Amino acid sequence: MIQTSDFSFSPEETERIATPEQIPQDGDMDVSLRPKSLTDYIGQDQVKQNLAVYIEAARRRGEPLDHVLLYGPPGLGKTTLSGIIAYEMGVNLRVTSGPAIEKPGDLAALLTNLGSGDVLFVDEIHRLSRAVEEILYPALEDRVLDIVIGKGPAARSIRVDLQPFTLVGATTRAGQLTPPLRDRFGIVQRLELYTPEQLCDIIRRSAMILDIPCEIDGAMELAKRSRGTPRIANRLLKRVRDFADVMGNGIIDAQMTKLALERLEIDELGLDKLDKRMLDMMIRGYHGGPVGLETLASAIGEESVTLEDVCEPYLMQLGMIARTPRGRCATQLAYEHMGYPIETQTMSRQYSLQDMLKSDDESADT
Ligand SMILES: Nc1ncnc2c1ncn2[C@@H]1O[C@H](COP(=O)(O)OP(=O)(O)OP(=O)(O)O)[C@@H](O)[C@H]1O
Ligand SMILES: [Mg+2]
Repeated sequence: MIQTSDFSFSPEETERIATPEQIPQDGDMDVSLRPKSLTDYIGQDQVKQNLAVYIEAARRRGEPLDHVLLYGPPGLGKTTLSGIIAYEMGVNLRVTSGPAIEKPGDLAALLTNLGSGDVLFVDEIHRLSRAVEEILYPALEDRVLDIVIGKGPAARSIRVDLQPFTLVGATTRAGQLTPPLRDRFGIVQRLELYTPEQLCDIIRRSAMILDIPCEIDGAMELAKRSRGTPRIANRLLKRVRDFADVMGNGIIDAQMTKLALERLEIDELGLDKLDKRMLDMMIRGYHGGPVGLETLASAIGEESVTLEDVCEPYLMQLGMIARTPRGRCATQLAYEHMGYPIETQTMSRQYSLQDMLKSDDESADT
């Protein structure tokens, strides 16, 4: 008989289990659970409906799909969608990423090896170097490559025609794309965090593929704690299965999910230790804000990008933090959830309606 104390996780491990970014423990989970066609892809209805029209139109005309930019927080299905686009268009998919394309020559090699209509997926496209971007512009616009051969006075430029192709770019930070690059995408789609109902469907689909017995109430409980992110939902599903196998009868139900997630230190809204540290610091260290992201990050010893990409989108969706031009503020909901009395004076100082209306990404950090 295994004791419950056999389930202990190192702090690093429990801290990271709720990250939307891919971690080594995921293994090939992403690949095995990836839906292949648009009909299998759950949620993101607007994006799906639009893409279905664009794909059908391109197919009827016998043309490649226009270049597509997908943006949104990590783990929401950008890579998955690029595969679906290639599948629905009936073409091959080549996968690479911004940091992997080091030299213009690397991109030239990729582009010249594409077949007619193929999809080139570039993940983290905001990290392309300037020199590589320069090569990309004419390729996207006129389907040509301008390659410089040789150096110095003997250098000459040759122009190579490319096959028609579709670039699918993905980024978590659309704001960091250079305007000329952004302008070259005909189709720009933002992925949103998923609702618990959609995540519940995703979890049930994954459970079926992985042959995990999972009841609806268990899937729903898990969905509510998965931060709107399919990658987290799938990862937690596998971890809860371990608990169900060892401490229960192998079936994932609401009770087992609650027990497992308590052990993983993920609360009923999906907040983990990092979210709580952030809220705690905002409330206790800065009277609920406003506080700049950099200040907050150094106060809790985290990288500001982690707070911005990992904690903030979900806390904002829950309505626990708000962005104002003067920084981030913890809302009444955050105080309630964290069990602190509300500081009425500070709360009223925090938000004027004007503040909220003016609020935007750049100014919030100053
Ligand atoms: N709509 C969906 N329906 C079902 N499963 C999904 C859906 N979207 C994503 N997934 C699952 O979530 C996992 C992560 O998706 P994906 O790798 O496409 O995310 P991503 O947006 O590319 O993340 P990153 O920004 O880290 O690259 C995949 O394993 C996939 O199975
Ligand atoms: Mg991806």
